[in-house]
Amino acid sequence: MPRFDDTFLEELRLRSDIEQIISAYVPLKRRGRNLVGLCPFHNEKTPSFTVYPDDANPHFHCFGCGAGGDVITFIRRIENLDYVEAVRFLCERCGMTLPQDGVDTSLAERRQRVYEMNKEAARFFHDTLLSPNGRAGLAYYKNARGFSDRTITRFGLGYAPDAWTALRDHLRALGYSYEEQYAANLVGRREKIVNGEKQFRYYDSFRGRVIVPIIDVRGRVVAFGARVLDDSKPKYINTADTPVYKKSLGVFGLNLAKTTKEKNLILVEGYMDAISLHQAGFDNVIACLGTALTGEMARLLMRYTEEVLLSYDADEAGQKATQRAIEVFASVGAKVRVVKLSGGKDPDEILRNYGPERFRSLLGGASNDIEFALQKAKDGLLLDTPDGKLRYLNAAADILSRLSNGIAVDLYASQLSETLGVDKSAVLARIRDLRRRRQRTQEKQKMQAITQDYLRETSRRSIRTGSGTRALKAQERIVALLYANPDFMSLAGASLTAQDFTDPALQALYLRICELIGQNSSLDFSRFADLGDEEMSRLVALCGQETMQTGSKKEFTDCINVLKTQASERENVNAAALDGDDFRALFQKKS
Ligand code: GTP
Ligand code: MN
Repeated sequence: MPRFDDTFLEELRLRSDIEQIISAYVPLKRRGRNLVGLCPFHNEKTPSFTVYPDDANPHFHCFGCGAGGDVITFIRRIENLDYVEAVRFLCERCGMTLPQDGVDTSLAERRQRVYEMNKEAARFFHDTLLSPNGRAGLAYYKNARGFSDRTITRFGLGYAPDAWTALRDHLRALGYSYEEQYAANLVGRREKIVNGEKQFRYYDSFRGRVIVPIIDVRGRVVAFGARVLDDSKPKYINTADTPVYKKSLGVFGLNLAKTTKEKNLILVEGYMDAISLHQAGFDNVIACLGTALTGEMARLLMRYTEEVLLSYDADEAGQKATQRAIEVFASVGAKVRVVKLSGGKDPDEILRNYGPERFRSLLGGASNDIEFALQKAKDGLLLDTPDGKLRYLNAAADILSRLSNGIAVDLYASQLSETLGVDKSAVLARIRDLRRRRQRTQEKQKMQAITQDYLRETSRRSIRTGSGTRALKAQERIVALLYANPDFMSLAGASLTAQDFTDPALQALYLRICELIGQNSSLDFSRFADLGDEEMSRLVALCGQETMQTGSKKEFTDCINVLKTQASERENVNAAALDGDDFRALFQKKS
C-alpha cells in the first residue's frame, strides 16, 4: 500500500527538484536534456549514472549497477533512510508537513528516547566531572590536556565514575529501562542464569574515563567518546551503532565548525586534537570517528565546505589514512589539501610544543593532492643516481597520467623535467603512454564487469523463475505495457493473475499497478517508491524515458498467452561466447 495520498505525493514531487537534490550529492554534467555523473551507489570511473529531470516522471538510472528510481528512492538510498524517513527528509527540505495518519512512528519515537537519554547521560557525566567524584577526570583535562574551564563547558566534557552501575541507576531513576539504555549503547550486558532461567546483568559501558559527547549538526548528543586517564588499554572506547548513530558517519565538531567563516574544514584524526585546536582558535576543525573514511562520509562533509584540509598524524598509519582519504575525496569530486605536520606527531603536540602560530603556518603550506603524491613518490629515492631518477620519473608520470586537467599536467611536467634534468617532451610522452595503457585496461575491466553482472543476473532470474527468458520477457512487457497504457487492464480481465508472475519484483510491480489503476491514481514513480530497491530499479529500467514504448494491444495479449502457456523454452545465453559488439547489443536490449 502506498502510505501517502496522491495529492501529497504530487506536491512533494513538484517541490523536490530532482536535479537540484541529486546535485547536492553527485557532481552532474549536462548531456542534452539529461545529466550524468559518477554513480554514488557503486564504484566507477566513467559516468553511467543518469538523471532525467525533464521527464514526465523525473527519475535517475545507473546503467552500470542498475540502480534507479525517483527522488524519494534516491534520498532513501543515499541517506540510508527508510521510506517514511526519506519522505519526511524531503518534506523538511521543502517546508511541507508530513501527513500524520498511517505513518509508522515507532522508530521515530524510539530515536527521540535515545536522544533524550543521551542528553541526560551527558549531563550526568558533566556534573560528575565537576563534583568530588570527578576530581581525577578534571585533573586529566586540565593538566594532561591543558583544557580551560571554558573549553570544558563549551564541549560539555565529562567524567564517568569508576563504578559499575552509576549511570545505569541514574537513568533508571529517570524512567529509562535497562533495555533502552542497552539499545543506546550506554550499558553493556552479560547473561546469567538465575534458578535455571536466563537473565541479563546490565553494567555501565564507560567507567573511570573522561567523556567527550559527540554532538551532531543539529545539536543533539548522538554518541560518546571515552578515554582512559593513564595508558591502559583500550585507550579509547566510542559508542557503537545505535538507532541514532552510525559510526562510519560519526563526526565530531561539525556542530561548531559548520558556522566557521573559513572556506575549508580541517579534518584531524582524534577528537582530543579537535578540541585543542578549537581552544587555540581554529573554529573549523572536525574529527571523524569511523576508522576508514567512506565516500558517504566525504559527501556529508562536502555539504558543509568547499575544501578539506587533511591534518592526520605524522606517523605511518596517519600517512596511509591520508592517502586513502585523498582517494575517497577525489572519488566524490571534493577538493582536498594535505597539511604536513612537523614538530610533533599530531596537532595537539604541535600546539603544545610550539603554539598556534606554528600550526597556522603549517596550514599555509598545505599541499594539494598532486604535490602530496609526488612528494611521497620521491621518498627514499636517490635522485642523483640514474636508477633513482628513472624510478621517480615513472612513479611521477603515473601520478600525472591520472589527471584530467591538461594545464596542471603541463605545469608539473615542466617541474619534473627540471628536477630530473630530462627533456620535457620525454616526460610528456611517458605520461601519454601510461594514460593510453590505463584506458585500455579500464575498458577491458568495464566490459568484464558488465559481462559478469549480466551473467549473474540472467542465471539468477532463470533460477528464480524456473521458466527461462521468454516468460520473463513476457512478464516485463506486461508491466511496461500496463504502465504505459492503463486501459489495457481491461484486456487482462480475469485471465491474468498475480500468481502468473514468477519473478517476485515484477509480481510486486504488477500488484501495485493494478492497485493504482483500481484507485484511478496516476502511475508515476513516486507511487512505487516504498517498494524495494530491486522493484524500483526494474521499474525504471522497464518504464524509464529511454526504454518506454507504448506497444500494442496485440502484443499485450500475446504476452499474456505466453505466460498462460508457460512456454518455457530456455534461451541459453552464453555471453562469454559473444564478441564485443554482439555483447553490447545484448546489453542494450536488456536495459
Ligand atoms: P591521545 O593524544 O593519546 O589521547 O590520543 P590521540 O588524540 O593522539 O589519538 P590517537 O591518534 O591515538 O587516536 C585518534 C582517534 O582514534 C581517537 O580519537 C579515537 O577515536 C581513535 N582511537 C585511538 N585509540 C583507540 C582505541 O584504542 N580504540 C578505539 N575504538 N578507538 C581508538
Ligand atoms: Mn595525541
